Amino acid sequence: MSNAPLDQSGVWRYREFIPFLESDHRVVTLREGSTPLLDAPAAARYAGLDRITFKHQGFNPTGSFKDNGMTCGVAQALRLGMTRVACVSTGNTSASMAAYASAAGLQPIIFIPHGNISYGKLAQALEYGARTLQVEANFDQILALVRQLAERLGIYLLNSINPFRIEGQKTIMIEMMDQRDWSVPDWVVLPGGNLGNVSAFGKALREMKAHGLIPKMPRLAVIQAEGSAPFYELMHSRDRSRLNPVGHPETLATAIKIGDPVSWPKALHEITESNGLVEKVTEQEIADAKAVIGQAGIGCEPASAATLAGLRKLVAAGAVRPDSDVVAVLTGNVLKDPDYIFKYHTGVLEDFSGSRIRPNFGNAPAVVPNDTERISLLLET
Ligand code: F0G
Repeated sequence: MSNAPLDQSGVWRYREFIPFLESDHRVVTLREGSTPLLDAPAAARYAGLDRITFKHQGFNPTGSFKDNGMTCGVAQALRLGMTRVACVSTGNTSASMAAYASAAGLQPIIFIPHGNISYGKLAQALEYGARTLQVEANFDQILALVRQLAERLGIYLLNSINPFRIEGQKTIMIEMMDQRDWSVPDWVVLPGGNLGNVSAFGKALREMKAHGLIPKMPRLAVIQAEGSAPFYELMHSRDRSRLNPVGHPETLATAIKIGDPVSWPKALHEITESNGLVEKVTEQEIADAKAVIGQAGIGCEPASAATLAGLRKLVAAGAVRPDSDVVAVLTGNVLKDPDYIFKYHTGVLEDFSGSRIRPNFGNAPAVVPNDTERISLLLET
């Protein structure tokens, strides 16, 4: 009930779970977290489920779940007395870091794969005042480069390998359980890219269980895009001691276009501990699931829709029972990638191999003359 800024943050109100600060007087909050759980009967029907609930992280201040972790990462940068922070990003981390660093008076420096992030995300980085470098390489190559640069230049690295960000992302699960009055769902489903989020979710659930807040863990299901699915391959191979990176990851869901996810060992641990699953989905499946989430009045960015697409596959295969209690985490806001949306609905969206995505749930706009009669006629049919 408190109006204190930290108590209004959906991250810091759970600060007993993230006890790394001696004092919280310098923490910068943009009122991250406090994101809703939304029921979506039409999306449930599409997946073959009796019901589904979306935990929508797109309601965050910069429109993605990255804000939950970034308020913690920036707090740690301030604690260490850093003046500059950096990240490599497929777009959302950079948007979030730009906002939180600028709000905290730190200089944000972001490295993004040139031509491979959505304009919504790039625009945010520019608007929030980040020094923005578009590198002619893919995410995995840039991450290796930035790890060296950060050390050489004394810049604090705020990628999801940063453990303080993972601490903040734990609160997504803690808040979800709080909102459900601590009733444990059967499944929590999320998209997987660099695999930081599934690591955070698993850690939070294990800690809540250890503290006696929940009696058992839900099962975690990670969904990857088919062209960027090294974790799926790992989970379906006999030898899980080593991940084989995808050299040229591809997907229109650019947020999860990652071939060499750094957090795979932690993610493997969490999937194993929770008796979880990993599935992969095609570009067509992601696009259609995204439109279905949109038609439910909810909307999300492409990577987030992998959850519903994956669930549909898992239910059809008998891996998830239709009467399961399922929470799917929508990681990013619908406005992050408007270009994708417009192309899908007008039937011109093409996947990375140049094949046309069918607008199975397309909703193209009509161009009409400025004429009452003609418009009336059109709307009567
Ligand atoms: N969904 C969205 C919208 C994302 O932006 C990301 C990751 C993921 C899912 C995957 O989460 O990496 O923890 O498995 N985006 C990062 C970025 C890589 O740079 O913004 P993950």
